Amino acid sequence: MQKREFIKTLALAGISLPLSGKNTDEIFYKFQNYSASQMANDEDFWLNLRNAYKLKTDYINLENGYYSMMPQPILNDYIAEIKMLNFHASFYMRKKMIDDKIAVRKNLAQFLKCDLSEIIVTRNTTESMNTVISGMDWKDGDEAIMAYQDYGAMLDMFKQQSERYGMVNKIISIPNHPKSDDEIVAIYENAITKKTKLIMVCHMINITGQILPIKKICDMAHQHNVKVVVDGAHAIAHIDFKIADLNCDFYACSLHKWLSVPLGAGLLYVKNENVENLWPINGEYSYDKKDIRKLNHTGTQPMATELSIAHAIKFNELIGIKRKEERLRFLKNYWTNQVKEFKNIEINTPFEDERSCGIANVGIKKMKPSDMAQILFDKYKIWTVAIDNEKAKVQGCRITPSIYTTIEELNVLVNALKEMSA
Ligand SMILES: Cc1ncc(COP(=O)(O)O)c(C=O)c1O
Repeated sequence: MQKREFIKTLALAGISLPLSGKNTDEIFYKFQNYSASQMANDEDFWLNLRNAYKLKTDYINLENGYYSMMPQPILNDYIAEIKMLNFHASFYMRKKMIDDKIAVRKNLAQFLKCDLSEIIVTRNTTESMNTVISGMDWKDGDEAIMAYQDYGAMLDMFKQQSERYGMVNKIISIPNHPKSDDEIVAIYENAITKKTKLIMVCHMINITGQILPIKKICDMAHQHNVKVVVDGAHAIAHIDFKIADLNCDFYACSLHKWLSVPLGAGLLYVKNENVENLWPINGEYSYDKKDIRKLNHTGTQPMATELSIAHAIKFNELIGIKRKEERLRFLKNYWTNQVKEFKNIEINTPFEDERSCGIANVGIKKMKPSDMAQILFDKYKIWTVAIDNEKAKVQGCRITPSIYTTIEELNVLVNALKEMSA
């Protein structure tokens, strides 16, 4: 991209350069020529980006795993879409919505490098996962495998299928510090029987941030004729990957998390060969049984949210997902490397680069996670979330920085943990 064109694109996305005393050329050349890993600790660049966000000053937000606040450019675009829809009202819904929905899916398919015919936009991961879990043609005695570290609402959905159809749920446990991919794959494989139909697996475990070796699990499962549904709530626009490379059957994600789409947007990917056999949650007979859109009849929809997906993709592509991934991992490593040797501190997240990115969980021996979160907030003005899950063997606070998080903010966390663990 030419320099002038590049700066214009940034300006259109609302990112203003230069700030922090550097001139535009300098930052531009850094941005163009640095690899993602070189950019990861370029504070000038990330401080510039921080200006795209309107942040509260009364606390440090290290709970960005719930959902990502929108930067101002996406928020402004979203407001414009709300106004447009309010102005055109039903005329828009009847005349333009269907075309726009296809355009959004095309845009998303391009961004995710997958096929349009394999994705739909949903309201969130919950809806996407439940479409798969409840859409399987369960018979009495069929088995599914899942982990204590999976998201509670998904485990509940399996429980409901078990009560309803007599299928059986087998729950395994993933160590917080696995020794190898093979160890994890073997845990799933050992639970497979002739009756196993489906494995649910998190791409990134939400309570610890651990990234699982999805492709290896899928390859193994397919050898046993078992399908795999991946809960990718935290992965898209956080780590750089292609769904197609995972070899999974189903993939679910929330776009309001790391892509910064307004609240209420998710994604469901269904590999073409699996569409026909999945029952929709809501009755739908206007599409062919092999058309993924049969799974997407959720009534009148908040189109402003869906239309904002394109704006969020534009913003994220400007930064680059690989750059985002490397920055988030750098931030996580920055604080975990300092606190991991403190007495009484337990990091419940693997340290290897391929096994974690921006999210990590830290516990203090003999301190309840809820007390820990309260002290972090009351005394140090750090907002986190307490995780107290005995079955999953995870007790601590989940720390989730964002791309706007500064080193100074993480220094406050490091100091807090030092004092609290002493
Ligand atoms: C792993 C995982 N799955 C599913 C969900 C549910 O996401 P949503 O509430 O957006 O449906 C979450 C939410 O944090 C999650 O972390």
